[in-house]
Amino acid sequence: MTRREAPLAMQQGTAPPDALGRTLADLRISVIDRCNFRCPYCMPEEAYPADHAFLRARERLEFDEIERIARVFVSLGVRKLRLTGGEPLLRRGLPDLVARLAVIEGLEDFALTTNGALLPRLAQPLRDAGLQRVTISMDSADAEIFRRMSGGRGELAGVEAAIAAAERAGFAPLKINCVVMRGVNDGGVPELVERFRGTGHILRFIEYMDVGTVNGWRNDRVVPGAELVRRIDARWPLEPLPRNPASTARRWRFRDGGGAIGFINSVTEPFCGGCTRARLSADGKLYTCLFAHAGHDLRALLRAGESDAALRASIAGIWSHRGDRYSERRAELRAAGVLEHVEMYRIGG
Ligand code: GTP
Ligand code: 5AD
Ligand code: SF4
Ligand code: SF4
Repeated sequence: MTRREAPLAMQQGTAPPDALGRTLADLRISVIDRCNFRCPYCMPEEAYPADHAFLRARERLEFDEIERIARVFVSLGVRKLRLTGGEPLLRRGLPDLVARLAVIEGLEDFALTTNGALLPRLAQPLRDAGLQRVTISMDSADAEIFRRMSGGRGELAGVEAAIAAAERAGFAPLKINCVVMRGVNDGGVPELVERFRGTGHILRFIEYMDVGTVNGWRNDRVVPGAELVRRIDARWPLEPLPRNPASTARRWRFRDGGGAIGFINSVTEPFCGGCTRARLSADGKLYTCLFAHAGHDLRALLRAGESDAALRASIAGIWSHRGDRYSERRAELRAAGVLEHVEMYRIGG
């Protein structure tokens, strides 16, 4: 397939920029919509009881289909792939998929976001298959709060074991994601900073977002990143690092050489202007924004026998019409009652 596609890619070039001039550079692939955690900001337990109707196996894209779509995206200019879920490590045979994607020519960065629970077993096979980076979610360094932030499903010792396994497998430096909810885990921010200062890993605080429809988001639960910077700086002086416009995080470094730390301020300082990210759900829908209410059904095109060229043309067309900038329009859209968003666990954040 590579041999057939390469000349096509050269003939037709990359996808045209979207309606706001943003190129297509990243693809985030959700491999499964299930999760073994029930984080209150994502899949609150009440909304996702044991009998919730998740996708059935045949509704999910198969590895062949994911690989085909990924190759088409890379031929359109994507340089960065990230596997997400739900919890991606729940997808059976994941290292086999990683091995198939890691060799796609033109790919520069290949990462995965996980809650870590299954990482002790999978870190080495994933590394051996060619995965370059892992990001591990860790919302607290306090065992009780950690448990609460995972909906009673996760253990602090489990995420610590995941970090150790990722280090052993050669993934360091890691990125550690912490979603901050006021009154729930924000008191534990200094403890988390202390845990990761000097380790080389990059801790990133993420503002609690109004993704999906069931997480009961309220503005007063958001702790602005700027507030966290002030609090952390008072104890461990910080200085800003230059901003990369394509990146979600603003980075700061500890003046005493303790390393770097990031803030994903998607509510108070939206970064839609540099958003080059497309998202593929486990059932093959293409979403052009984390807050989109509907996706474009690529699985239907594949299963109808469309050629790679037709797939390329569809994706390029979808991208060229993209005008999403939800986070910049949040207040206006919420006031107008636009509250229908795809659930986070379906497109993996
Ligand atoms: P790096 O490439 O390692 O910097 O990763 P990343 O920040 O792109 O990916 P990661 O999965 O670690 O994203 C961290 C969190 O940032 C996600 O879980 C989301 O909460 C948020 N995020 C990522 N991309 C977007 C985006 O396009 N829009 C918004 N609003 N939030 C995003
Ligand atoms: N707000 C911010 N980040 C979220 N994530 C999930 N739900 C939310 C939310 N409501 C993030 C988690 C994890 C990734 C999978 O998505 O922190 O790092
Ligand atoms: Fe699962 Fe991640 Fe959502 Fe938590 S944030 S419920 S670990 S998918
Ligand atoms: Fe991109 Fe949508 Fe996030 Fe803005 S809100 S950065 S357009 S995914």
